[in-house]
Amino acid sequence: MGSRIPRAFKDELLARADIVEVVGARVTLKRAGANYKALCPFHGEKTPSFIVSPSRGTYHCFGCGVHGNAIDFLMQFDNLSYPEAVEALAESLGLEVPREAEAAERRTENDQLYDLLREADQIYRAALREHPEAIEYLKRRGIDGATAGRFAMGYAPDAWDTVLKALGGTEARMKLLLQAGLLTENEQGRRYDRFRNRIMFPIRDNRGRVIGFGGRVLDASEPKYLNSPETPIFHKREALYGLYEARRQARPKEIYVVEGYLDVASLAQHGVEPVVATLGTATTPEHIRRLTRLAERIVFCFDGDRAGRAAAWRAMETALPFAGGTVELKFLLLPEGEDPDSLVRKEGADAFRARAAEALPLSTFLVRELEARAQPDSADGRARLAALARPLLERLPDGVYRELLTGELAAVVGMPAERFAALVGAATKPTAAKPAARPAGHKGPPQKSTLMRKAIRLALHYPRAAARVDPAGLEEVDQPGAALLKQLLEIAQENPHLTPAAVVERFRDDPLGRHLGQLLAETPLDDEAAAPTVLEEAVHRIVRKDRERRALAALREHGVPPSGGTH
Ligand code: UTP
Ligand code: MN
Repeated sequence: MGSRIPRAFKDELLARADIVEVVGARVTLKRAGANYKALCPFHGEKTPSFIVSPSRGTYHCFGCGVHGNAIDFLMQFDNLSYPEAVEALAESLGLEVPREAEAAERRTENDQLYDLLREADQIYRAALREHPEAIEYLKRRGIDGATAGRFAMGYAPDAWDTVLKALGGTEARMKLLLQAGLLTENEQGRRYDRFRNRIMFPIRDNRGRVIGFGGRVLDASEPKYLNSPETPIFHKREALYGLYEARRQARPKEIYVVEGYLDVASLAQHGVEPVVATLGTATTPEHIRRLTRLAERIVFCFDGDRAGRAAAWRAMETALPFAGGTVELKFLLLPEGEDPDSLVRKEGADAFRARAAEALPLSTFLVRELEARAQPDSADGRARLAALARPLLERLPDGVYRELLTGELAAVVGMPAERFAALVGAATKPTAAKPAARPAGHKGPPQKSTLMRKAIRLALHYPRAAARVDPAGLEEVDQPGAALLKQLLEIAQENPHLTPAAVVERFRDDPLGRHLGQLLAETPLDDEAAAPTVLEEAVHRIVRKDRERRALAALREHGVPPSGGTH
């Protein structure tokens, strides 16, 4: 079972790896200033154009264009798969890849957490049988005994110490209960049960082990749902409620993704399955990656309210890098005021499946939403649509799908496809064209502006500087690269100590970052001390210039400023 390698480990691995050592063990390197040079091992050459940069942790060939970090080098030179390369690099550093073999201590600690969660699960389930008001609640919600049993629903009694008393015998056990998220501690150091007076939904991993809980109140108190916090064994970015139950079937044609625990239970009870839910978080790339391995079609079902529409839009954005592949991605927006649970109870399974069959393919959903948001019946609206479309198209993998979608959007704004593609800067590049082979003077598809390139380059090279720059305002910038720049700033904010090699690693599966490796080869013009100021200034100018440009464009079209309704 190829479980993911934790990101923190990859960061550490690339921080520790010495690219000079890795490359130098296989290729003869010569010192050249701060860098090292070699004859490129990937193409025949007589004068060295292969550069290794120890400070960035990367290599780049100015002849054939290969580039990457230590992991890429091992993949390319030693012909290894990605996990093999990670493994090899870790081994050379005396590190163990955590998914393979954790430190013995850590493993036993996690085992203890699993044990506690299983015991808590049993307590909650027993309590459900003893509390008629909880059973009554589930009945009122239309959940029958078989479904409650299948999803192992339980009840956390209305007391401060149910789990505390039963499982917190020693200080060591209490500590573990806190770690497992079953207890919380207030400022005075008093400890008590996190879950009280709630219907409990155990969340399982692929092996069926309980890794966390969701709990719903019986009455109208807040919050309506409480979830386990992140723990060493519970990661909301990856976990999917109902996935374990779903996996026990033969590979299904399609899988439904819904928003709530009760939506899962209710659909499953009606035979609409397999069905999973995210855990009060937005859909993540990890979720989608797992789902694409599971079924041929993913149907995202969102509530017919504003929150649901917003969630659908975000899920669509996240799903873009996966679009156009072998897995079909569809979006089902439910009627106003309905969620999957209410709808399947009202209309029945067949009607629900019929709606799902009519779910919009990702491209249709994208075009419709863009139309709804931009209102392309005026020149302004069409410009707005192009601006909104750009970051989305940038996230799509290169290829036929992107070209088709670009064409579709061009039709919406009534422009020749070529012209529109040029404007949104998302034209598919001829893959054969190597940078070196391009005739001088030929500019190719619209490039990121010099300023944008400069900002991206700085953000990539100096995460610590980037961490101090506010990405606000970039989301409205209508230019190639704006989405990437915003993401770089956000990554740096989260982790300012990443090396450029590790930053690039974050984009391994993300088309948005497919040219980042290239940028690593361009030496930033500014020294590191000046980087925060220069970057900040660049970002400001990008935001300001884009505003001005849009205002000007609007002025040219209508002779009035965009917001100037009066005259
Ligand atoms: P909804 O508010 O749509 O509720 O939350 P629901 O699933 O329809 O629940 P019922 O029908 O009122 O019981 C959807 C999901 O969002 C998360 C939960 O995962 C929930 O299932 N959520 C919601 C929270 O984490 N906390 C909350 O306070 C509310
Ligand atoms: Mn509901």
